[in-house]
Amino acid sequence: MPINLKGRSFLTLKDFTTEEIQYLLDLSASLKEKKRAGVRGSALAGKSIALIFEKPSTRTRCAFTVACIDEGGHPEYLGKNDIQLGHKESVKDTARVLGRMFDGIQFRGFKQSVVEELALYSGVPVWNGLTDMYHPTQILADFLTLQENFGKLRGLRLVYVGDGRNNMANSLMIGSAKTGVHFRIAAPGGLFPEKALVEECLAIATGTGSTIEFFEDPQKAVSGADAIYTDVWASMGEEDKLAERIALLKPFQVNAELMKATGNPECIFLHCLPAVKGNEVTEEVFESRNSKVFDESENRLHTIKAVMVSTAGNL
Ligand code: CP
Ligand code: NVA
Repeated sequence: MPINLKGRSFLTLKDFTTEEIQYLLDLSASLKEKKRAGVRGSALAGKSIALIFEKPSTRTRCAFTVACIDEGGHPEYLGKNDIQLGHKESVKDTARVLGRMFDGIQFRGFKQSVVEELALYSGVPVWNGLTDMYHPTQILADFLTLQENFGKLRGLRLVYVGDGRNNMANSLMIGSAKTGVHFRIAAPGGLFPEKALVEECLAIATGTGSTIEFFEDPQKAVSGADAIYTDVWASMGEEDKLAERIALLKPFQVNAELMKATGNPECIFLHCLPAVKGNEVTEEVFESRNSKVFDESENRLHTIKAVMVSTAGNL
């Protein structure tokens, strides 16, 4: 059966099969080639896309904006003080209004329940551009970068080091389980993902050959890694926790010594960015030849374009 994602929302990778994720990655790669060749698309011609941002963004905002324009659509940025959502109007009412005017809605904000409610009531595809729980479009860019570097996903060894219960750790765990990647989290006890999500991912992993493991010793966790991933120690909205996190996470910094502990000189370094250099990663690793963070950033554009055109476009 050919894959058809028309009309679907993109709220968490849990909702997508292995084949659908692979389809989105393959489509991203072909859209990347098309962009490199200077060919403009028209899959979103005549379409208007709402971009709701409760939190700041560089990559996600720019990727949605440029991807939409590349395919002939019109993006409309709606910042947190620009619309009534959350102040004077319920999510349900806002969803129904925007759904009458727009062909797709991107939401970045705090609560996963808000992006889900927008999807439930708008009647158009809704895309999760980050919530406190998940960041699924980021995973597509990360996995496209892995695929470009290793030619495959299944069987790769990906180790996430740091705040093991944030949106990135959760989403990488889901993405790995779905695609057969061996995934480890190295974090201090107390900063691991919620048990229910771990169990869900372990169940998914049995069907794909993925393994999911948890370590409190970062040196042991990274042994044999193909890729090390980290993220900020305090996510947006958690700034008050930074001092406590620095104290807890200092031994989990990705530095030259940790890269060496992989035993793999070709191990790549990934980070969703923005990075706080000197905290979760050293300048040395960030700037090293193993660091693929700017390929990963660029891939936000191609993967987000794939999500939009496949769900809301005329492909
Ligand atoms: N990685 C990412 O989502 O970056 P922004 O916060 O800049 O969108
Ligand atoms: N965990 C980070 C990711 C930023 C892209 C945050 O939520 O702030």
